[in-house]
Amino acid sequence: MKFKPPVKFENEKKLFTTLRMYYSATTVKHILRPCNDESIPEADGYADCRSGCGETMKIWLKLTDDRICQTGFWTDGCAATVACGSMATELAKGKSVTEALSIDADEIADALADLPEGNFHCAELTAQTLRAALKDCLVISREPWKKLYRK
Ligand code: FES
Repeated sequence: MKFKPPVKFENEKKLFTTLRMYYSATTVKHILRPCNDESIPEADGYADCRSGCGETMKIWLKLTDDRICQTGFWTDGCAATVACGSMATELAKGKSVTEALSIDADEIADALADLPEGNFHCAELTAQTLRAALKDCLVISREPWKKLYRK
C-alpha cells in the first residue's frame, strides 16, 4: 500500500485525535493520506454512482494482461467515503476482474478495521461503484471500440 506523501494539515495532531474519536487508526490513515485519489485517462473501466445521501463515488480501472494494474477514485463524500475509496482501490489492485467482483462492502469495512455502523453505506456506495467499473471493464474487453467514445 503506497500512501501519499504527507500533506501539511494545520493542526494535524488535533485533526488525527478528533478523527480517532470516530474511526479506527487504519481508517484515519486512509482519510488523511488516501491512496489512488486520481482519475485515470483512457481507463479500461469506469463508473460513477450516487448514494442515497447524495454523495458521489467515481472509480477508474486500468488492466494489464487481465489484471487490475492501476486504480483511481474520486468522491465528494464524507471522510469515511474517502477511506472506503482508498481501501477498495487498494484491494482491487493485482486482482483479475472476476476476482475483484467479490469485493463487497463487508470486505472494505473489515479492511478498514471497524467502520462505524453509521458509515456502512459509504462502503456500500464504494462496493457498488467498484462493481459497476468492473462490469464496464468486461464491456470494454468485449467491445474495445466503445473506449473511443469515452471522455
Ligand atoms: S456516503 Fe453518505 S455519509 Fe458517506
